[in-house]
Amino acid sequence: MQDEKKVPIHFAPLQGFTDAPYRNAHEAVFGGIATYYTPFVRVEKGDFRTRERRDIEPENNTVRHIIPQLIAATPDEMRKVIALFQQKGYQEADLNLGCPFPILARRHKGSGILPYPEEVERLLQCMKEFPDMQFSVKMRLGWEDPKECLALLPLLNNYSLKQITLHARVGKQQYKGETDRDSFETFYNECRHPLIYNGDINTLEDINEIVSRFPNISGIMIGRGLLANPALALEYQQDKKLSQKEMLGKVKAFHAVLFDYYEAHLQGNDQLVNKVKTLWEYLLPDMDKKFKKKIHKCTKIEIYRAAVAEALRV
Ligand SMILES: Cc1cc2nc3c(=O)[nH]c(=O)nc-3n(C[C@H](O)[C@H](O)[C@H](O)COP(=O)(O)O)c2cc1C
Repeated sequence: MQDEKKVPIHFAPLQGFTDAPYRNAHEAVFGGIATYYTPFVRVEKGDFRTRERRDIEPENNTVRHIIPQLIAATPDEMRKVIALFQQKGYQEADLNLGCPFPILARRHKGSGILPYPEEVERLLQCMKEFPDMQFSVKMRLGWEDPKECLALLPLLNNYSLKQITLHARVGKQQYKGETDRDSFETFYNECRHPLIYNGDINTLEDINEIVSRFPNISGIMIGRGLLANPALALEYQQDKKLSQKEMLGKVKAFHAVLFDYYEAHLQGNDQLVNKVKTLWEYLLPDMDKKFKKKIHKCTKIEIYRAAVAEALRV
């Protein structure tokens, strides 16, 4: 329906994919996104990775609204990352309580902390030390039981949060299996914070289904669906799908911006080929398989360029 209220679309953080050049090029070419999030920043052996520092550097980010994300198991780790965010001029931060990677989850980071409400509360308590910062949380239904989020809800409701994004899966599922929208609904009914839905949104129909099932939702966060169709948020905001020609034209422009950036910033053929090839892991899944195969097989940049030009020929 044309006159339906549009909900804000948030671009999910995706480590290895949505780095600063990607986010910048996405907003410049496609847009339609209310907020971009950085992949998580963490303290490792007392310090930060250069790549993670560079990714949040304000001079490397041109999008209108960006929220840096952190992952931490203890207030001590959390304080260090927030101090870095503040030093870079950020006034918002998103706390990752959803990452399913076993190495991190075992250390009670990401979704691994969800079964331990007292540890989650310590992190929420820590937020109070930073009255100038606004915090949000990105979480899953639980680590292994979707009721874990309900056990946390009275606690979450008690703290000041800008919003909660809930990925409708448990950590043990990683990124596979069905999303559990009934469990999402139970949380939605009791949550006092603005709530954002996340998980397996790939089409305009998927967006509309969520909005009609959860009319009080504050937004939808999309990850892989936007990597596959970077125009998804734009199409939703404009109520119109792009034609094949428009889509290929935009993808071509997007690819050109990213290719030029990586060519100028990465060293050597191999680094460049490997980086630009990752773009195609999710992009345009319905594209003729023979083009995808050609791109995936490339080891030389000249061959890669020719393969992409052929694939995106209008
Ligand atoms: C490769 C990859 C990297 C991810 N990195 C992050 C991350 O750094 N922080 C985070 O909160 N979620 C991360 N996620 C989870 C996504 O943000 C999102 O919650 C998840 O993919 C489900 O949404 P989708 O079905 O729309 O992709 C990652 C997911 C994938 C597949």
